[in-house]
Amino acid sequence: MRLRKIKNAKEKLEEYNRIIKFEPLEMKGNWKQYFNNDNPIYLEIGMGKGKFITDNALKNPSINFVGCEISESIMLKAARNIDPLTIKNLLLINVNASSLNDIFDKNEISKIFLNFSDPWPKNKHAKRRLTSEDYLNIYRNILIDQGIIEVKTDNRNLFEYSLIKFNEFKFKYIELSLNLHQVENEDIITTEYEEKFKRLGNIIYYIKVEI
Ligand SMILES: C[S@@+](CC[C@H](N)C(=O)[O-])C[C@H]1O[C@@H](n2cnc3c(N)ncnc32)[C@H](O)[C@@H]1O
Repeated sequence: MRLRKIKNAKEKLEEYNRIIKFEPLEMKGNWKQYFNNDNPIYLEIGMGKGKFITDNALKNPSINFVGCEISESIMLKAARNIDPLTIKNLLLINVNASSLNDIFDKNEISKIFLNFSDPWPKNKHAKRRLTSEDYLNIYRNILIDQGIIEVKTDNRNLFEYSLIKFNEFKFKYIELSLNLHQVENEDIITTEYEEKFKRLGNIIYYIKVEI
């Protein structure tokens, strides 16, 4: 995501302690207690400025949402857009997805969203793709049995790569689209990137698998 770095973003984030969980390692195994209910937890990885996860949380009050974002500056943008008094079923964590095994216990997450993840086109960077083996092993660990992963991307290579990896992991295909927005569907909650790509006329690919 192209965004100018915000000066002192880390310090500025501290103001948003009602929406950002600053010591997420302490939460491992305790997320349901934190939300104070038994509702399922959905996790978005690389949430960007947070439109998708905020809209989702507002639309689905009986699901808890956690938004993960590696960049402090982008996290700050997201936090500024969320009113913790109106949205009580959403928390943000400013971490690299590679550390999710230390933050969530086995079976704590019911669904993972990967929306317009960075494609890392060079083969030498394939391990950084959020659907590479190391990440899928993490997801399999934190997801419940029959947990779900949903992917949206406009990048054909990342789409094909993800299909290959999901096949290797023997995940079960639930839904697949080669043109998600071919037919207008108001039920689809979009992300910032998705809105931009739709305007540009890019095709959006979609995958939904069960582990
Ligand atoms: C291309 S943007 C897409 C943002 C948003 N999902 C959307 O669709 O509008 C990818 C986002 O993923 C974040 N990201 C990349 N690698 C990450 C990682 N390993 N862990 C957490 N976030 C990551 C980036 O900082 C960026 O905000």
